[in-house]
Amino acid sequence: MLRLENVSTWYGPIQALKGITLEVADGAMAAVLGANGAGKTTLMNTISGLMHPREGRIEFSGVRTDHARSDKIVRLGVVQVPEGRQLFPDLTVGENLRMGAYVRRDRASARDDQAWVFARFPVLKDRLRQLAGTLSGGEQQMLAIGRALMARPKLLLLDEPSLGLSPILVRQLFLTIAGLNRDGTTILVAEQNAHIALATSTCGFVLETGRLALEGRCEELRDDVRVRKLYLGGK
Ligand SMILES: Nc1ncnc2c1ncn2[C@@H]1O[C@H](COP(=O)(O)OP(=O)(O)OP(=O)(O)O)[C@@H](O)[C@H]1O
Ligand SMILES: [Mg+2]
Repeated sequence: MLRLENVSTWYGPIQALKGITLEVADGAMAAVLGANGAGKTTLMNTISGLMHPREGRIEFSGVRTDHARSDKIVRLGVVQVPEGRQLFPDLTVGENLRMGAYVRRDRASARDDQAWVFARFPVLKDRLRQLAGTLSGGEQQMLAIGRALMARPKLLLLDEPSLGLSPILVRQLFLTIAGLNRDGTTILVAEQNAHIALATSTCGFVLETGRLALEGRCEELRDDVRVRKLYLGGK
């Protein structure tokens, strides 16, 4: 579904991604692991078109996207939940959800989708008129995902969804994300919490200073000596 070939992304003179080649299969839930500054956000932003690579190519469902505009990439079905959520704090929950549907022209099915988001995140329905900035951290993350779902993603990009959440909420959130995946949404999730990411995903990629250091099925990565030592706190 998604294919990156030798992708390099720079911030001016700083090279943040160094020749990344990877594939995410239709229906996968793939985790991107890596320490602070490894390039996880840069990878997400490069896939979603917020940044463009200097070299390499990106294809989504056979369409070349490495220099496409981000709104076109959203219309193709690649939707990102950004790091830190980036909700509109002074807008209500309902208004934030509608912003997620802005790429859509079909209002009726946007209403159906809202009903679908509420079925998954009932708390959002209860808080429809509450300002997003006054939601708890967990509720804000649900709203950020709900907003992305309003754009009907085929591939959902999640950048550190666990940020600032309690361990219990992180677990619940990843179970919810795995549920979305079971229902047919392909997922690419960048996460520092390697335990939960490897427990819930099907496959994983490990970034180290902008390079793809390791990749494999999550069971294999969980047993990998380097992953255990560097990311799972083991020996
Ligand atoms: N706007 C920028 N200008 C210059 N360098 C940047 C910029 N944004 C990120 N970088 C650099 O690019 C590298 C990758 O950063 P990135 O944000 O992708 O890492 P990350 O894996 O998402 O880290 P974190 O876990 O802290 O979110 C880092 O070395 C960072 O300093
Ligand atoms: Mg990041």
